[in-house]
Amino acid sequence: MQRVVLCITGASGVIYGFRLLEVLTNLGYFVDLVVSSNAKIVLKEEHGKDLPEVLKNIKNYELHGERNLLSSLASGSRLVKYKGVYIVPCSTSTLACIANGVNQNLIHRIGETALKERVPLVLLVREMPYSKVHLENMLKLTEAGVIVMPASPAFYHKPKSIEDMVNFVVGKLLDALRIEHNLFKRWRE
Ligand SMILES: Cc1cc2nc3c(=O)[nH]c(=O)nc-3n(C[C@H](O)[C@H](O)[C@H](O)COP(=O)(O)O)c2cc1C
Repeated sequence: MQRVVLCITGASGVIYGFRLLEVLTNLGYFVDLVVSSNAKIVLKEEHGKDLPEVLKNIKNYELHGERNLLSSLASGSRLVKYKGVYIVPCSTSTLACIANGVNQNLIHRIGETALKERVPLVLLVREMPYSKVHLENMLKLTEAGVIVMPASPAFYHKPKSIEDMVNFVVGKLLDALRIEHNLFKRWRE
């Protein structure tokens, strides 16, 4: 079973991360999951739910503690076995830490390890508007080979619901790692 790392941080739009988890596990991937404490706060704010409730129907995942620097995911020799690492959504704080080599938790360490081992790293950065600092951090990581994506759904596929809009963004995340899916209709399809 192929493995993917998924980190969920405390930016608005944690629904993108949890939907990605659901889709990846349904597609047969095993997901190593890290959820920051701030993501849990946003989950409660935006959806009125706690983490166990959101995870109760998900199979084929392992939850790693945000503070557990002894996790296998912190090690380059383990991370190279993964198809890739997603940070979805990625707060500007986590973006800044990874762009500047600062490790304050397991998510930052995973970002750093993915960078040094050239493991595909995809960040869905969510903030509006962006400051010069945000843009510089995104450029720095893009130049280092990271795929930086904005949480911006399109409208050409004529979404009818929030779910359709979320699925579009999640589909684009899967495209980034060349994972096949049918989450949205492609242009002129
Ligand atoms: C309801 C709520 C929404 C937030 N939305 C964003 C956001 O969209 N983008 C962002 O960068 N930070 C946002 N924040 C602030 C982050 O949670 C904060 O910077 C935090 O330190 C991020 O920590 P983490 O990256 O370890 O999860 C939000 C906070 C709350 C409580």
